[in-house]
Amino acid sequence: MPYSRKVATSALAPTTLIPRDQAGDVLAGNAEIKGLFGAPVFNHPKPTGLLAYLINSVLSDDKDAIVLDFFGGSGSTAHAVMRLNASDQGNRRFFVVQLPEPTPEGSVARESGYSTIAALARKRIVLAGESLGAGALDASRIDAGYRAYSLADTHFSKWKVSSDVDRTELEQHLFDLRESSSADEASADDLLSEILLKQGYSLTEQIAPVDVAGLNLRSVGDGIVLAYLNEHVKPTLEQLRAVVDEDPARLIVLEDAFQGDDQLKTNLAQLCKSKGIELWTA
Ligand SMILES: C[S@@+](CC[C@H](N)C(=O)[O-])C[C@H]1O[C@@H](n2cnc3c(N)ncnc32)[C@H](O)[C@@H]1O
Repeated sequence: MPYSRKVATSALAPTTLIPRDQAGDVLAGNAEIKGLFGAPVFNHPKPTGLLAYLINSVLSDDKDAIVLDFFGGSGSTAHAVMRLNASDQGNRRFFVVQLPEPTPEGSVARESGYSTIAALARKRIVLAGESLGAGALDASRIDAGYRAYSLADTHFSKWKVSSDVDRTELEQHLFDLRESSSADEASADDLLSEILLKQGYSLTEQIAPVDVAGLNLRSVGDGIVLAYLNEHVKPTLEQLRAVVDEDPARLIVLEDAFQGDDQLKTNLAQLCKSKGIELWTA
């Protein structure tokens, strides 16, 4: 007689380790998107309750955790992190990575002006911050700031060359080197982000615009680094002297800002040397 064993039917019923009342379900995820955008611009996102539950389970309620989501979709992980912080005054941070995957032609997302899922996720982070701030007792406690970066080719000609260039390409490259930045449309912040990454700074450095003697600079880390990145306005020696007097540890100046004035550059190098400031031109 073949071996057989009776199994109680209830043992075959699917179970979940995650309490639904905390995690929510597909409908809750859909409702969150609709509540923020006023339209179903993304189908079946994970509910932020589920992500918040998982984040806290894995990270043991660590309020300073950094949460990484390589497949960000509509940004529900970012939203969940902001929600958790709002609920317990945490300082968790998030990295969300998303391909610029186009939204389908004719979809609600496309019709609402979002051409990529990444664009939609960026907007969701803004909207989530606004809605959490509106619902908070102390809105100033809600840190809804974020930075969005996209992968791009370098803005600097001199960093563009590869080892297997042919003769014509190399000639063109040397020709381009007469100017430091190759893309005139690059903003000061684009250039600074690239320089800071090359110098080993993180993507989360505090950066603020500052005015020194009429020059518009970027101050990094409360003035530890000062950067002048306007290639169209050549600074005077007096202005550069005032910048040096601010005593940064490092001064970054866009090569093109000297507009070929080697004497100005040499004078600045001497000024920096006398004060122990590291001058970095790019
Ligand atoms: C299922 S969705 C994520 C949903 C998201 N957790 C939410 O709840 O909104 C997965 C996403 O990963 C993205 N993706 C797929 N391959 C990727 C890759 N190699 N790098 C980055 N994103 C990728 C897709 O574009 C898709 O939007």
